[in-house]
Amino acid sequence: MPKVTNIEFYNFRNFKNFKTSFDSKLNILFGDNGCGKTNILEGISLIAKGRGIRNSNIADLIKKKEDNFLIKNKLEINNNDLNIEIFTEKRNDKFKKIIKINEDLSKDSQDFLNNSLSYLIFLPEMERLFQAPPSYRRNFIDRLIFSSRNDYNILINKYKKSLVERNKILQSFNIDYDWLNHIERQICRLGLEIYKLRASQLNLLNNELINIKNDYKFQFYIKLHIKDDFFKNKINFEEYLVNLQESRSYDKQYGGTKIGPHRSDIISIINNEFEASLLSTGQQKAVVLMILLAQCINLVNYKKINPILLFDEIGSHLDKQNRQILLNMMNRFEIQFFLTGTDKNLFSFVSTNAQFYNITNL
Ligand SMILES: Nc1ncnc2c1ncn2[C@@H]1O[C@H](COP(=O)(O)OP(=O)(O)O)[C@@H](O)[C@H]1O
Ligand SMILES: [Mg+2]
Repeated sequence: MPKVTNIEFYNFRNFKNFKTSFDSKLNILFGDNGCGKTNILEGISLIAKGRGIRNSNIADLIKKKEDNFLIKNKLEINNNDLNIEIFTEKRNDKFKKIIKINEDLSKDSQDFLNNSLSYLIFLPEMERLFQAPPSYRRNFIDRLIFSSRNDYNILINKYKKSLVERNKILQSFNIDYDWLNHIERQICRLGLEIYKLRASQLNLLNNELINIKNDYKFQFYIKLHIKDDFFKNKINFEEYLVNLQESRSYDKQYGGTKIGPHRSDIISIINNEFEASLLSTGQQKAVVLMILLAQCINLVNYKKINPILLFDEIGSHLDKQNRQILLNMMNRFEIQFFLTGTDKNLFSFVSTNAQFYNITNL
């Protein structure tokens, strides 16, 4: 079960140098706005592939007026200790994130690390998930898929690149139809794969959400589904291709691509009655937490993956039900938690042994 046992930051974000060890179960970081709580979670999230919980530019991670940052982590995975170093290198004027695992840069050890690590993330903006544009909800679900398949972002990136390429061809003066046909076939193949993975992710969540509702007598029965006029559960490759070909002139005129998984929305229906956007902010937070709990059960029980939970600004809007969901997660799983909030007493409801950290800007 992966755990972060230590971190050291050097010239990372607002930290000149910062060092602490962590509890293997429950860590609560508190302190005033701007003290660096989210930065700490970000530093932890950078151990995995990608640009961390904020999806920031790598250059922004470096403390202002400095040339580079260094994050040192100690991880424990299946009783093995790993020393991780994260820093950047500038290549062709672009910063690239480098990860060393026990002094090793080989692809094998990177793969081992990526396959062993998974994060479940709550960010404060998720309190407005159901009010936000559809892209937020797609990203939210895509992150959940990514938590069990670390190759999923490759699929998403390939798909996005193919859309850009098709656009370029459509805008060109002399359209290369062979190339266009090839790219459109690729878009259909990748797009169908994304639709399929999202649909099966929502299925898994929906099944677990029924269990949660029954087991814990939660107030809401939540059902998620894909809202997409083009995708109606069983679109096949040929239909997809024909539709894409028929939208060429429209797409050429307006730019972009009219159909595909980049246009889907993910809808949450509450008690078979209304959309989650009608709930209060605190209730919407409960819905998001329940979906994260469902994914946690799914990862731990079925996928045999033990995620690390990074829940930022989780302390606010916690009513009885929201606390119950959190307590449930803590009692149910032997996984590592990092929770943040502005005040220590926001977490007084936590009964298990928690390690508290008062973060002060140095
Ligand atoms: N590259 C950077 N260099 C120096 N300071 C930074 C950098 N990036 C962010 N900061 C500072 O970090 C602070 C925000 O930290 P954050 O972790 O978001 O705080 P919070 O505790 O509220 O979550 C801000 O004061 C911001 O100016
Ligand atoms: Mg913050």
